[in-house]
Amino acid sequence: MAPSLTIESALELPSGNKLPILGFGVWDSPSDITTKSCLEALKVGYRHIDTAQLYGNESEVGEAVKQSDLPREKLFITSKIYSPESDVQATYQKCLDSVKKIDGDNGYIDLFLIHNATVGAESCKTMWQAMEKVHGEGKFKSIGVSNHGIGHLENLKSYAKLWPPAVNQLELHPWLQQREVVEYCQKNGIVVEAYCPLVRNQKADDPTLNEVAKKHSKTTAQVLIRYCIQKGWSPLPKSDNPGRIAQNADVFGFELGKDDMDKLDAQPQEAALVLAVDNESKS
Ligand SMILES: NC(=O)c1ccc[n+]([C@@H]2O[C@H](COP(=O)([O-])OP(=O)(O)OC[C@H]3O[C@@H](n4cnc5c(N)ncnc54)[C@H](OP(=O)(O)O)[C@@H]3O)[C@@H](O)[C@H]2O)c1
Repeated sequence: MAPSLTIESALELPSGNKLPILGFGVWDSPSDITTKSCLEALKVGYRHIDTAQLYGNESEVGEAVKQSDLPREKLFITSKIYSPESDVQATYQKCLDSVKKIDGDNGYIDLFLIHNATVGAESCKTMWQAMEKVHGEGKFKSIGVSNHGIGHLENLKSYAKLWPPAVNQLELHPWLQQREVVEYCQKNGIVVEAYCPLVRNQKADDPTLNEVAKKHSKTTAQVLIRYCIQKGWSPLPKSDNPGRIAQNADVFGFELGKDDMDKLDAQPQEAALVLAVDNESKS
């Protein structure tokens, strides 16, 4: 991995659009502080924010987009839909609700995802077709998926007019590497995004992680974010604490060596915090 990566580095999506490599997650961010946290993140250099209809804070992210001094085209906003309405047309309207909340009636969303394949194949198809329609109108610049296994992706391929999905957003960290589906995504040109990159701080006392952090005089959180970046994934760390928001962005002035990466790669694989994808399931 080139040491020349910076906070402005981006991954190229299949559409040619650029995904800023470091994202800022807002799940569980209380809606009365989400705007402030997003503005803090933008101030220290993040340009990519990850929200979802389910998080109940799309409007607050939209408020940060509005209040920010940055031009809209410098920002990259992702949102997600969890479940469809009764048909494609009603689901299309539900997608447009996100656009309105984030960027107003005439705005757009950079990346929009199916949140989770566990809602079933038919529901995913309805959501994807609605998302293709919004994409066709230019209000979603790219569309993709989250929590999709290989079977789900193959099923999507069977009917998608737009293939491949821009990204697959998965829970990823040294203790959940989901190697099979990550390899499938990389082979198929699907950019991989890493959620829970900090393992929700549950590995802060892990001896191997602390050994690597000490060696580089960095925090365990910084090592975990850097690990994702060097894997070629886009990590989406969340914080509502200004000091930690800044710390989590300060990951471009050091590089993990092959030995560090190998040690982290060798961690035992554990149960997902949120949801491990089922690589076979098509339902
Ligand atoms: N697609 C999906 O199904 C899905 C599922 C889960 C998450 N996500 C996305 O991925 C994002 C990240 O995942 P996540 O929020 O679940 O977990 P995470 O980013 O791994 O961890 C967030 C937790 O770590 C704490 N934290 C942040 N920086 C820290 C630091 N430097 N030192 C110590 N603790 C720190 C935060 O607390 P403070 O806020 O107090 O700092 C928060 O409790 C979400 O916000 C969301 O955007 C997507």
